[in-house]
Amino acid sequence: MCAKKTPRRGKSKARSNARSNDRPSDRPNALWGGRFGAGPAAIMEKINASIDFDKKLAIQDIAASIAHCEMLATRGIISRKDGDAIVSGLGKIAKEIQHGTFVFKHELEDIHMNVESRLTEIIGDAAGCLHTARSRNDQVATDFRLWVRDVLDQVEDALTGLQAALIARAEEHAATVMPGFTHLQTAQPVTFGHHMLAYVEMLGRDRGRVADARARLNESPLGAAALAGTSFPIDRRMTARALGFDRPMVNSLDAVSDRDFALEFLSAAAISAVHLSRLADEIVLWCSDAFGFVTLPDSFSTGSSIMPQKRNPDAAELIRAKSGRVAGALMGLLSALKGLPLAYSKDMQEDKEPVFEAADIWLLSLDAMTGMIGDLTVNAGAMREAAGRGHATATDLADWLVRVLDMPFRRAHQVTGLLVKLADEKGCGLADLSLTAMQSVEPRMTADVFKVLDVEKSVASRKSLGGTAPVNVRRAVAAARKTYL
Ligand code: ARG
Repeated sequence: MCAKKTPRRGKSKARSNARSNDRPSDRPNALWGGRFGAGPAAIMEKINASIDFDKKLAIQDIAASIAHCEMLATRGIISRKDGDAIVSGLGKIAKEIQHGTFVFKHELEDIHMNVESRLTEIIGDAAGCLHTARSRNDQVATDFRLWVRDVLDQVEDALTGLQAALIARAEEHAATVMPGFTHLQTAQPVTFGHHMLAYVEMLGRDRGRVADARARLNESPLGAAALAGTSFPIDRRMTARALGFDRPMVNSLDAVSDRDFALEFLSAAAISAVHLSRLADEIVLWCSDAFGFVTLPDSFSTGSSIMPQKRNPDAAELIRAKSGRVAGALMGLLSALKGLPLAYSKDMQEDKEPVFEAADIWLLSLDAMTGMIGDLTVNAGAMREAAGRGHATATDLADWLVRVLDMPFRRAHQVTGLLVKLADEKGCGLADLSLTAMQSVEPRMTADVFKVLDVEKSVASRKSLGGTAPVNVRRAVAAARKTYL
């Protein structure tokens, strides 16, 4: 019944499709034919069904089915009349899904069979023609690629949004001095703007990974059928084009087996989540009383049920922790796929939940981080004060000894170490030592040295490419706007 002018090779397949709809209703599953005499055990249905999570693919499933159906009709594999009925039925189903009136049924296992079964209810036997020349194996691979592609586009926007927020703060604080740390010990003064731009770069690489993943996943598995291709004269280029794919995948076995796109999505997500987690951790530190570098607004703080003074940075802590779940999702899927023979195995149904979970976390974390970065108050005074502690300009002093007294750096390092020790003994900073005290360590010292002990001068001097000087930061802000926004 499917074909307008039934092609020779399509005939028996089409007839058998039609017959499958006539099976008695007591049959276990109308979609897989006569060899089953009994329905699944309740526990079998429970472990097998994916509808609870793959209903997320409904819109992609319908789009792919419409593309497939149009192609089948254009190639004369099914009749135009059946094709039109199928497309209009699928349109109705899309509306039901959008309006939340579609009833997802567990016994129909997954989204593909839920949609096809509803199509049968709406248009009758013609629905049975839709599955000609395809399988759920190429169908699910297609739907899932479309879904991941949509999410990657949303992530790209969200990453850009966070970069914009960071760049704005960097411009505002191009000259705001804070202590830079290594080992979380005061190292050298940097600017808060420079620190913000460090994350802009990380997010830029995250966007690069998103773009790479998107480009590689954008090939169509549709038409690979179960694993070997099909004997019907399909046009895979047509369906690929209709779904916005760059081209059909070239090998049918690979098309149904490949989940690299999900792994690439998860690894890009995991790396990005680690970046967000590091920034989140810094926010947690910065808004502690011990640091006091930033204050989160009420809208991004939570209170304590017992300690009235508390303002907790829960959003930052949750972003920090959720990154672990994203990394876990990647590990889980890598482990599930490892060692699977070609082509499809049901193991692959386990690819969706980790990807769905990681996508939700990635987008939520990006939005929450963008909100926090935009709304936090920078306490420039506290940062400046902390930058003045911990002998942050000791390296500047050593550099001065190299430049002015022509010492080898190693010797300068040693002399500076002695001066730091002296300052510690006196309980003061390097800049508070008298010239005489300094000359007791190195007689050639002059008052000129005091010029480099000031933190503002220290940051201003770091004008090397990629350095923290405010003039660099202002230039980097302009460059980042051009590159990323
Ligand atoms: N729900 C299945 C999945 O997500 C669809 C593919 C089923 N294919 C099969 N041969 N049983 O993987």
